[in-house]
Amino acid sequence: MTKYFQVAKTSDIPSGERKRVELNGERVSIFNIDGEFFAIYDQCPHKKTAPLIRGTLNGIGVKCPNHGYRFDLKTGECDRGERFNTRVYLVKVVDDNILVGYSASEDD
Ligand code: FES
Repeated sequence: MTKYFQVAKTSDIPSGERKRVELNGERVSIFNIDGEFFAIYDQCPHKKTAPLIRGTLNGIGVKCPNHGYRFDLKTGECDRGERFNTRVYLVKVVDDNILVGYSASEDD
């Protein structure tokens, strides 16, 4: 079951900006793209060292700062093959609060 947690205020992340938060011990990067918020697991699955918070936005995606693998912010799909797909999270905005959905299993 997915539970939603308030992680930031909308004013904390203006359009084009990003913020890293911690959710149940996981580092999660929140991106604001033209007023829409996306949340992705922060650690790049390629070498597991690079933080995607430092990546370059590319459409509705982020490119890892290390080797440029691109991750879709809606689906978590990687352009270098599904073994590098990563976790994305549901995001809701309620009033001026950004809520991120967390489930212990991605199948919930
Ligand atoms: S560490 Fe992210 S693409 Fe290599």
